[in-house]
Amino acid sequence: MPNSNELRIKKYDKSGMFGLIKSFPEQCLRAKNIGYRFNPPDSYKLKYANIICAGMGGSAIGADILRSYLLDEAECPIFVSRSYGLPRFVGQESLVITSSYSGNTEETLSAYKDARRRGAKIIALTSGGRLEKYARADGYPVVLIPDRLPPRVALGYSLIPLIVILSKIGAINDKATEVDEAVGVLSRIKADDEARRIASRLYGKFPVIYASYEHTDAVATRWRGQIAENSKTVSSINLFPEMNHNEIVGWENPKKLLKDFAVVMLRDIKGDDKRILKRMNVTKKILKTAKIQVIEVKSFGDGLLARMLSLVHIGDLASFYLALLNKVDPTPVDRITYLKKELAKI
Ligand code: F6R
Repeated sequence: MPNSNELRIKKYDKSGMFGLIKSFPEQCLRAKNIGYRFNPPDSYKLKYANIICAGMGGSAIGADILRSYLLDEAECPIFVSRSYGLPRFVGQESLVITSSYSGNTEETLSAYKDARRRGAKIIALTSGGRLEKYARADGYPVVLIPDRLPPRVALGYSLIPLIVILSKIGAINDKATEVDEAVGVLSRIKADDEARRIASRLYGKFPVIYASYEHTDAVATRWRGQIAENSKTVSSINLFPEMNHNEIVGWENPKKLLKDFAVVMLRDIKGDDKRILKRMNVTKKILKTAKIQVIEVKSFGDGLLARMLSLVHIGDLASFYLALLNKVDPTPVDRITYLKKELAKI
């Protein structure tokens, strides 16, 4: 007899989001192989002034996690650009990675053209579409990833090949061991029970996600994206230590609504600066005194990548279970589809 959880999955998860989220560890492994099979041209093995990743939504988040992961290591700045144009500093000494899962996102295509105009080195990461067509026609290298997934589910594909490629061009050290550790941790952790517990505490609430400026910032962005797209729930994020300097004061009003908020604190005990850990503890005390629900979520693993991706995976699953509690199918993103269709007409 299927249990109530299985029945709910069957009822609402019409497109198999659960299986896709669960296969994240295997996807990371496949993504690593895609990265190692890709050979950047020798002319790409340079010391760049900056590395820019241009993309939107589910395609940008991989780049954002990359940026955050390499914060202490990359010698040149890594910048994630989420719009039509590229920053003024992008030029011939830049590497621009244009990442669009569909290959048809207008902002990313426009950023691609901008990068080409400025003579930057370009790598296109996509499952096809116009981005692949343009890049091939212009003679830029293409990293082709498997198609037919909701872009946000393809996080392994939009992140891991970039880690490998940056090591291949000499921007960072080889990360094969860290990637393997992350895959192992993701396959081992029992994220389901915890994700269900988090979802039940977030049900009916406005989630406010707090993380640390170093390394869990992009993870918090991922949580917000997944809670929006999978659970159809609006949420907000902010970071330590900055939130201690303003937002913390705001937890007084609107009085009538405060009971409907729930704080999620993403904690990376092994990596978070001791001073940040202290700030999180004191903040938790302040919020609890104000009768705000605080849900702490801890990372797993030793290496930074494993710790970041374990928090991502728990969040992905929590957003899935929250979708079931909200009685919605986690997969469709009707408003994004509608927006893209309307904008294509103009
Ligand atoms: C995620 C999602 C969006 C897209 C974004 C950009 O599942 O549907 O966030 O990722 O609209 O599209 P792509 O990734 O195709 O460039």
